[in-house]
Parts: sequence; C-alpha cells; structure tokens
Amino acid sequence: MPPASPFQPRDLAALAATELFRDASAETLALVREHASVRDLAAGEILLSPALPNQHIYLLLAGALALRFDSPQAPEVRELLPGVSVGEMSIIDDAPPSAYVIAKVASRVFPIHRDLLQRLIAGSNPVARNLLRLMSQWLKANTRHIAADQNQIRRLTATIREVSAQGLDQRIPTTGEERDFAELIGVFNEMLERLERSFKQAARFSGDAAHELRTPLTILQGRLEQALHAVPSGSAMQVQLAGILDEVRRLSSISQKLLLLAQADGGRLSLRRERCDLTAALRDLAEDARMLAPALRVDTAIAPGLAVAADGGLLRQALHNLIGNAIKYNLADGWLRIDAAATDAGIKVRVANASLGIAAADRALIFERFHRTEAARSRGIAGSGLGLGLAREIARAHGGELTLDDSAGGETVFSLTLPSP
Ligand SMILES: Nc1ncnc2c1ncn2[C@@H]1O[C@H](COP(=O)(O)OP(=O)(O)O)[C@@H](O)[C@H]1O
Ligand SMILES: [Mg+2]
Repeated sequence: MPPASPFQPRDLAALAATELFRDASAETLALVREHASVRDLAAGEILLSPALPNQHIYLLLAGALALRFDSPQAPEVRELLPGVSVGEMSIIDDAPPSAYVIAKVASRVFPIHRDLLQRLIAGSNPVARNLLRLMSQWLKANTRHIAADQNQIRRLTATIREVSAQGLDQRIPTTGEERDFAELIGVFNEMLERLERSFKQAARFSGDAAHELRTPLTILQGRLEQALHAVPSGSAMQVQLAGILDEVRRLSSISQKLLLLAQADGGRLSLRRERCDLTAALRDLAEDARMLAPALRVDTAIAPGLAVAADGGLLRQALHNLIGNAIKYNLADGWLRIDAAATDAGIKVRVANASLGIAAADRALIFERFHRTEAARSRGIAGSGLGLGLAREIARAHGGELTLDDSAGGETVFSLTLPSP
C-alpha cells in the first residue's frame, strides 16, 4: 500500500504533487509535508521554504527523479546516472546557464548538464519540471557554499597540477585558502614524499652502478691498449684484442651515458659553462663525417661566428650523437646536411639525413632510454638507444631543446635549439 499523500486530493496541484511523489519514501513524504506547501493551483508548483536544509532538497529532488525511471527516457537516464538513488543528487548553480547537476554515486562524481536533466525530466512529467525549476532557484540562493567548494577544488586542482609539473620535490602548501582540504593535501604530500624517495633511490642506484664500473673499465681499456701494442701487427691475436677493445669502449660509453643520465634525473648534471665556438665545432664534425663516411654526400650551411655559453664536452657529445646517428642510420649512397644559424628563438642546429624515415609509433619513443627502432635493430647497426635521450637532457640542461621534426618521407631531421649567449 503506497504511503499517504501529504496533500488534500481536492486540490489539483496536490493531485499532481501526489503523482510526483508516488514512488517517494515515507520519510520524503514526511519532509514534503513539513516543508513544502501548495501555492498555485494552475501551475501545480510547490513552494519550497528557503530554510529547507540541503539534504531535504536532495530527498525532494530524488522523489521527483523517481518518476524518470519509468519514463520513455529511462534507458538514457540510467546510462547517465548508473546506480543513482535517493539522496545522491545536488544542483550546483554557480554560473547559469552552464550550471551542472552533480550526482554522487559511490564517491564518484558525474557532472551532468542541467539542461539535459531538465529535458529528461520534463519529457515525462510537467510537475517534475516545475519542481526542478523551483529547486534550482532555491538551490541557487542557498548553496553558495557548494559553489565555493567547487572553486576551492578547482584551485586545488590547479595547484596540484603545477606541483606535479614542477617536480617531485614540490609540496602543496597547507596554509592557503584550501584549509578544508588539509587532510587531502596532507595525504597527497605524503605520496609525493614517498615517490620522491623511491625515485631518488632508483636514480642513485644507476648512478652508483655506473660510477663503480668506470674505474675497472678504464683499467681494462688501458691494459688492452698496452697488449695491443705488444702483439705483432696484423696477427690474429691483434685482431682479437682489437675486437675486445671495441666492446670495452662501447661498455665504457654506455656506462658514461648512464652516469650522465642519472645526474640529469637528479637535476645534478653539472655544467662547466664556457664560450664555445659552435661554428668551428660543427665544421670539425662535418669534416669527420666526410672522412668516416666517404660514400655519403655531406652538405653544410653553417653560419660563421656562432657562439654559445655551454659545457663544451657535453655539447660536443650531443652533437656527436646527432651526427653519428645521421651517418649510422643513413641510406647507402645517401646524404646528410648540417645547418646552423642564429634565429629569434636562439641558435638553431638542424641535422638532416636520408633515411627510411621513423615510423609514427616510434616517433614518440625515440628519446626514451634504450629504445631503438626495429629498423635499426634488424639492420644490425650498433647502438644502445641512450644517445638521443642524453642529447635531449644536455640540450635542456642548457636551457635549450632537442626535437625530432616533421619531415617528408625518406629523411629524418633533428633540431637542436640553444639560447643565444
Ligand atoms: N638520424 C636518424 N635517422 C633515422 N633513425 C634514427 C636517427 N637517429 C636516431 N634514429 C633512431 O632512434 C634510435 C635511438 O637513437 P639513439 O638514442 O641515438 O640510440 P642509438 O643510436 O644508440 O641506437 C636509433 O636506434 C634509431 O632507430
Ligand atoms: Mg645514437
């Protein structure tokens, strides 16, 4: 047996309201009886007292919404509000007409455009439409604090975003306007703390490992070089030793790159800045390329007198890797081109080469550590996949950037930008 209506049946509006609250609980009806009164017969509106507490409004609204579930729009509604039931709706009306209805379901928040909800409800029951309109007016006057909470959340989100972008060593201040969220901020800051600690541990580990390897590798390399001089030139032994020496040099270079990357991760890539003659460095590298790869056509357009304030060793390493790649991943009888000029955005070096191109899937990964394209691997070209990542770290440590440019098929272009001195 349905609960008794709070309205007198001789009243037209009361009839409509009875229909509206047909599925409402006894508790809702008690609230309606206490707080709502019938005002206008023809419109069937229900007047809500401004003193009505929020939770009562939720219940009333839920009573209205109960009608929707057997309306023609029911499937649409269910999809929008999975699991919504009594007591879980609120209307946030801080900027009409773009206000939101927010349904909280199991701690998830679904923003739904109010117009859409109104349309859904209006489709099934005109009284529900009136009720919703009245409620939204009422809520507008009474729920400023909800809008204020929303603003706080928005500000907090912006702060968190900033903190995440700036690095793990940042913390969210708890002294701001978002005092209500102190606990949440505390938990977030603790999480940052733990992340930072484990991140530092990981960075320290690879740095330490690379550091420990450095001395034995240097000794090994020295001994091999000595031995190489002692054996008869052209002997099988010399060939073997030279092969081993190559591998040891490769290991040395990998461990040196790992060390630099670990330093970069820890923000400790130490730069000994000096005035570097970029024009001369690039011309030397172009000359080296011509000697190393006589089959390639090497073109240059290097502006004279380009200078940067940089760590000479690191800068040369970055350029060396770019040009080394342009040689390694070139086509047989291909070409490579080095351009450098001063621009408004700083000094720009472009290294382009003929190549099979870099697949779209690889483009995003090319700077990741140890990532090598399938093409590079299958062609058996030696490499570790650390060079580009390190070159980019070096560029950034100097306040510059290294990017893989969009280019026509059949070529690969990298751009290194460095700030003008
Ligand atoms: N100039 C280039 N042309 C074509 N592919 C390139 C070029 N430079 C880099 N690549 C691709 O990017 C990958 C990563 O380069 P890099 O980090 O320098 O590592 P490595 O050269 O040791 O493999 C290479 O393995 C290669 O597949
Ligand atoms: Mg490389």
